[in-house]
Amino acid sequence: MEAEKILAEITDIETRARREIAAASPAELEAWRVAYLGRKGKVLALTSFLPSLAPADKPEIGRRVNQLKQTLTALYEEKTRHTEQSRRKENLSFPGKRPTPGYLHPLTRVTRELVEIFSALGFGVHTGPDVETDYYNFEALNMPEDHPAKDMWDTFYLDYGQKVLLRTHTSPVQIRFMKKNQPPFRIVAVGRCFRRDALDARHSPVFHQMEGLMVGQDIQFAHLKGVLVHCMHRLFGKDVKVKFNPAYFPFTEPSAEVSISCIICGGKGCATCGQAGWLEILGAGMVHPQVFRNVGYDADGITGFAFGMGIERIAMLKYGIHDIRYFLQNDIRFIEQLGNG
Ligand code: PHE
Repeated sequence: MEAEKILAEITDIETRARREIAAASPAELEAWRVAYLGRKGKVLALTSFLPSLAPADKPEIGRRVNQLKQTLTALYEEKTRHTEQSRRKENLSFPGKRPTPGYLHPLTRVTRELVEIFSALGFGVHTGPDVETDYYNFEALNMPEDHPAKDMWDTFYLDYGQKVLLRTHTSPVQIRFMKKNQPPFRIVAVGRCFRRDALDARHSPVFHQMEGLMVGQDIQFAHLKGVLVHCMHRLFGKDVKVKFNPAYFPFTEPSAEVSISCIICGGKGCATCGQAGWLEILGAGMVHPQVFRNVGYDADGITGFAFGMGIERIAMLKYGIHDIRYFLQNDIRFIEQLGNG
């Protein structure tokens, strides 16, 4: 075929294609595409004439065929978009885009629940820095330099003089608060803590605690017990038993380790409680007089209690989570499973 004929053919194809697509219903659109742009369509058929053309005509004809292909492709895309849009407009039941809701991390949920329980009892909520000095984390809590009790916490130190560290517990918030406030008061403090523990199913070098501190005239161990039993009942139900065992912390005297009856086996003994029937969940005690002296309290009759609980531990028991590492991995399936209720 000679060049003129092909050019005429190109114009002809374009005219017909435009007319047909304008009239095509959505159902006919695919047939149109196959007829013009398909592997055996009219556009590709034109290229089969190219080899027989005079060399001088080839570039021009090649360009025109390409142009035709682009024009028809654009027409097709435009029409498809249009059809889709009108389909959406006409059909109100066409599925919309479902928004993906966010979920609260299990630790956030437990923290909020704890804050709610203690706010209802009149406790204010406070925080302190993750990076602490030896003074707040140890010394003011009745652990002067080289005190052997410092070994109770494997500490991440941030400098060689061992004066700056990542707090090993939330107890330094007690000191920070008392230095600025006078009794009576009751507060809780939630936050991240750090210990040089190897990561396994039950230990994590990063975890969270909630500290509690209530100080005033004649605050007694019975108040501590009342508050903690109430808290455990709210968290785990009224059937849970709460037990206080003697313990040692340098900043409380007397000190206690508090356990609850195993919520998995009800106290009979299982893998979670190591056959003991009890789960240790927090440390507590009456604020040591030396701690009061360290923050400058000297009034007669001022006493107080303090406690510190592991948030991960409580979340694991409450939601049956068997490995503390899940909290850190941010697997969306783990975070989603509690839903949004
Ligand atoms: N800070 C202690 C710990 O992390 C817990 C605790 C807090 C004990 C308050 C007594 C009073 O082990």
